[in-house]
Amino acid sequence: MQLTGSRLIVRPVAPDDEREFLSAARASEEFHRPYAFLPLDEKEFADYLRRFDQVQAHGFVLRLLGSDELVGYINISHIIRGSYQRGTLGYGVFLPHHRRGYMTEGLRLVIRHAFETLSLHRLEAEIQPGNKPSLRLVRLLGFEREGLARGLIRIEGEWRDHERWALGHDV
Ligand SMILES: CC(C)(COP(=O)(O)OP(=O)(O)OC[C@H]1O[C@@H](n2cnc3c(N)ncnc32)[C@H](O)[C@@H]1OP(=O)(O)O)[C@@H](O)C(=O)NCCC(=O)NCCS
Repeated sequence: MQLTGSRLIVRPVAPDDEREFLSAARASEEFHRPYAFLPLDEKEFADYLRRFDQVQAHGFVLRLLGSDELVGYINISHIIRGSYQRGTLGYGVFLPHHRRGYMTEGLRLVIRHAFETLSLHRLEAEIQPGNKPSLRLVRLLGFEREGLARGLIRIEGEWRDHERWALGHDV
């Protein structure tokens, strides 16, 4: 499976991505903190891959068309079927590829895939109030703010509030 945009291709994250993914994640560790935490060694990468069982979770990498350079990742996790048909998005760019519109393009591709191929009906994003780039991004993509969830996720030992944003398909 592969999604192709104007500058990017999006593919499922795979064992072959390990070396480049770990090196990009290490180089972007400070940039991602405290908003995203990625595998930083081989064992963590193996655990990360196992999370994507293609039922409850799908993980993708974003690569540049042409050079194939790894520029980011997007995950759809916590997928619930039945009467819900929803999933939660996680995403991040790797330095130095931030603020070039890659995440906007990658998310557009993955969102279309989620609605049209995976038949999800709703995508959610949980974002810390201080994460301005991420808030701006989801607003730009048409997500709506649904409220503030207090103490939603424990990050670095502290229960942190998150804004809840959602995008519906055919609502
Ligand atoms: C959130 C994140 C993925 C955005 O990536 P990005 O490379 O900036 O995305 P894009 O280039 O597609 O930009 C999307 C929009 O956000 C804006 N933006 C990016 N960084 C910004 C910043 N620091 N302040 C304000 N706006 C910002 C861009 O300007 C763009 O809007 P515009 O096209 O109107 O100018 C990136 O900052 C990141 O990886 N952050 C760390 C991990 C993270 O927070 N993940 C999400 C957890 S909820």
